[in-house]
Amino acid sequence: MTISFNFAGQHVFVFGGTTGINLGIAHAFAQHGANVTVASRKQENVDAAVAALSTHGAQVLGVTADVRDFDAVGRAFATAGERFGKIDVLVSGAAGNFLAEVNQLSSNGFKVVVDIDLNGTFHVMRQAFPHLASPGASVINITAPQSVIPIRYQAHVCAAKAGVDQLTRVLAIEWGSAGIRVNAISPGPIADTEGMRRLAPKDDTSGSPVQRLVPLGRLGTTADIANLAMFLASPAASFVSGAIIPCDGGGAIDSIKPMIEGAAKEQMTHPAG
Ligand code: NAP
Ligand code: COA
Repeated sequence: MTISFNFAGQHVFVFGGTTGINLGIAHAFAQHGANVTVASRKQENVDAAVAALSTHGAQVLGVTADVRDFDAVGRAFATAGERFGKIDVLVSGAAGNFLAEVNQLSSNGFKVVVDIDLNGTFHVMRQAFPHLASPGASVINITAPQSVIPIRYQAHVCAAKAGVDQLTRVLAIEWGSAGIRVNAISPGPIADTEGMRRLAPKDDTSGSPVQRLVPLGRLGTTADIANLAMFLASPAASFVSGAIIPCDGGGAIDSIKPMIEGAAKEQMTHPAG
């Protein structure tokens, strides 16, 4: 069986799309013909992503913006709109994470993650709307298993990503009449990502202990997530909206929760220094 995607001429905007999972999504759309805009805070990440994405022969625009800055997010969409027109596919995945138990977390430490993950998603959604193809746009938020699974040392992320899920569901209702679908992908442990570097035990060099925790017996890849994103953006998903879809090898509660709690135990035994 062959599944083929074709996004030729479509404008795909990936906020937080310059590294890791989100960059993997941008690569997939660029490989399938889209004009791609990526945005994030650091100019060096934006420049590197634009260079890498351009190797597919795609037209690529890079914009520097922090999702915490509502006006900067608006300027990013205006710039992208001038270059490629209305947005057919919007991916919002900027996030921050670190391990900290609540009693060690400052007010600003909690706030910074809520600001990036949740308020940032709101900023992206709110500023993107006038630039979305209506009808027809597909919006994909990147959430995490922490949105539904309570995990020690992740109170800030659990709270923020739960908000991302609910924002996704509400927007699917409010924007449905405009012909815009809004969904979210909840990745499991994805190999070679910053999230794994921060949340998996450091001496797990082979990855095998974490792999054993995943029911399907392997870590995910950025291509696994990108494939689901392309499905959600395609006509095959034209009646899918308001869905929070795990892509986690069969059970994040079996893998993410013990992985993160194991990493935290290790960091407390061997504090970073
Ligand atoms: P990553 O490589 O650190 O990607 C984060 C991206 O967001 C980068 O492009 C980063 O670029 C950008 N970013 C961070 N803060 C930003 C801000 N304030 N404004 C604008 N852009 C910002 O992380 P990842 O591990 O691939 O994770 C990507 C997404 O997947 C996140 O939403 C994460 O919660 C989710 N996720 C990951 C895993 C996993 O296994 N890795 C599992 C579940 C869910 P700059 O630094 O240049 O801003
Ligand atoms: N434990 C406890 N608190 C921490 C912390 C940790 N490991 N790391 C940061 N904080 C606190 C800081 O102490 C600060 O609070 P304070 O002012 O009360 O001291 C607050 O968080 C903000 O930190 P700061 O470094 O100023 O934030 P930033 O805006 O420069 O960076 C982060 C944001 C902290 C989320 C940073 O890790 C980041 O940029 N992450 C993006 C990449 C990422 O996390 N990828 C994985 C995605 S799953």
